[in-house]
Amino acid sequence: MLSNLLNFSGGPGALPVSVLEQTRQAIIALPETGLSVLGMSHRSDWFKALLQEAQDNIRVLLGVPERYHILFLQGGSSLQFSMIPMNFAHRAAVPAEFVSSGYWSRKAVTEAAPVVPVRTVWDGYDEGFRRLPDWASLEHHPEAPFLHYISNETVEGLQFRDAPLPGPVPLIADMSSDFLSRPFDIGRYAMVYAHAQKNLGPAGVTLALIDDAMLSRIPGGLPPMLDYRTHVKHGSNYNTPPVFSIYVLNLVSRWLRDEIGGVDAIEQINARKAAALYGALERHVNLFEIHAEPEARSLMNVAFRLRDPALHDGFLAESRAAGFSGLEGHRSIGGLRASLYNAVGEPAVARLTELLDDFAARHG
Ligand SMILES: Cc1ncc(COP(=O)(O)O)c(C=O)c1O
Repeated sequence: MLSNLLNFSGGPGALPVSVLEQTRQAIIALPETGLSVLGMSHRSDWFKALLQEAQDNIRVLLGVPERYHILFLQGGSSLQFSMIPMNFAHRAAVPAEFVSSGYWSRKAVTEAAPVVPVRTVWDGYDEGFRRLPDWASLEHHPEAPFLHYISNETVEGLQFRDAPLPGPVPLIADMSSDFLSRPFDIGRYAMVYAHAQKNLGPAGVTLALIDDAMLSRIPGGLPPMLDYRTHVKHGSNYNTPPVFSIYVLNLVSRWLRDEIGGVDAIEQINARKAAALYGALERHVNLFEIHAEPEARSLMNVAFRLRDPALHDGFLAESRAAGFSGLEGHRSIGGLRASLYNAVGEPAVARLTELLDDFAARHG
């Protein structure tokens, strides 16, 4: 039997047990309304209050100033790959700039390219996406409409330690796989977005934080659903929003605030989890190979493989028999991956390191 507590999936993945328990109850009847959360109207006062609370919690957790709109969007992070250029680079004289540091940021370039001219300012593809660039080494056109990068490459397990220093080019980051895992300075960004299904809740909702100053760049004539101003104007309630996903997202934000103690606290926990797992992999360096170079290693996704491919299936079978799930690597690079999102506890990581030690004792 697989265990929720040992879910190392790349996403959708682990959610806090207390959130799952409240959600189970809410599917039958919300304590506040007596109705199932699945049947709550998006025009109800209850939902309006929920949207407000979820926004307020994100604002407080990350210290987001009022000049940033907090939007709850649909279409996943993938829709942002084309919506961002549509809104912010329409008819720009200079190409939009992209860092291509992994599977997902490469995809962002491919999906923006049919919409606007794009320029890749750094590409790690030929090196197999194992390291990240130095921000200082990149050259930008001062009139580029934006620079897009992904703070944490979910597939290859690469994570930027810092944001680039402020410059003339508006900075946009996809933080889908490390949002709320550590503090960051929102003031450096024109826009940050993250889908829910890693650290925030179930799939179905994507959070976008957009500096109000960016809205004046949006051209007229966009389809309303694809124009950020529609969602600002209607307070993320233009068409039917994913009520259930936002409900769970709000429970997760309360859990992070009240049970964990905020993003500074979770950052410490996440650092300990990652140190434990990388440490175990390094103890058995003859058996396991870590994908990322040390300076670029992600605290959220640990991508690794068995040096002997013949052991791969056996390792996964043993892990499943012990209740673990989600340890398969992404289909694009294969191997193994352990995702250490916020809801994966330290005891779960300890169990995983025991599994690695035990496997190594027999095969190392
Ligand atoms: C960093 C990152 N960006 C974008 C995506 C695509 O997200 P979605 O499936 O919500 O479109 C993923 C998927 O895992 C991701 O990890």
